[in-house]
Amino acid sequence: MASYNVLGMCGSLRAKSFNRSALLAAGELMPAGMTLSIADYADVPLYNQDLQNQGIPESVSRLVQAVAASDAVLIASPEYNFSVSGVLKNAIDWLSRVPAPPFKDKPVAILSATMGPLGGARSQYDLRKILGSQDALVLVKPEIFIGVAQTKFDADGKLTDETTRKLLTDQLVAFQRWIGRVALK
Ligand SMILES: Cc1cc2nc3c(=O)[nH]c(=O)nc-3n(C[C@H](O)[C@H](O)[C@H](O)COP(=O)(O)O)c2cc1C
Repeated sequence: MASYNVLGMCGSLRAKSFNRSALLAAGELMPAGMTLSIADYADVPLYNQDLQNQGIPESVSRLVQAVAASDAVLIASPEYNFSVSGVLKNAIDWLSRVPAPPFKDKPVAILSATMGPLGGARSQYDLRKILGSQDALVLVKPEIFIGVAQTKFDADGKLTDETTRKLLTDQLVAFQRWIGRVALK
């Protein structure tokens, strides 16, 4: 069986982020043949073309390398004001400005966790549109919207909600199949 190294990207920088906790849960629930490492890109600066013209910042180059070296990317992001978090959008903007944008043809799966009841559904459709601009290959279903996240993780950040654990497991199985289907040989 092929093995896939998946890069996790969290759209929240908060230490106790529910989305980061969801990524950690995904790392545990992944089927055999998949492994997860989570990107640390908190030091990526705000995009500024003047900065880009001075040379791609080292923090951005590190993220470019991490995405390029991965077989697939799993994005977990909160919804901010009905859309994608600025943290995540900023990172994608930088990744789109390098000579070989690394999201091109990259299998991607997305999920979102919010304290509101809709679980970030509105933001996911914006994220799909943004990733489309990068020619990323985004898994369609199952969709995962973790609403009222404060009731689904314990104080240590463990995902305790059984329904969500099952859904996440199903998404990861579908993602593994998706990567196998779309990965460039
Ligand atoms: C700037 C900002 C905007 C937010 N907008 C939304 C929103 O549109 N919908 C929603 O469900 N929650 C919204 N929230 C609440 C987030 O769901 C909540 O803070 C969540 O815990 C963030 O994810 P995290 O735990 O991964 O940091 C917002 C929070 C912030 C800080």
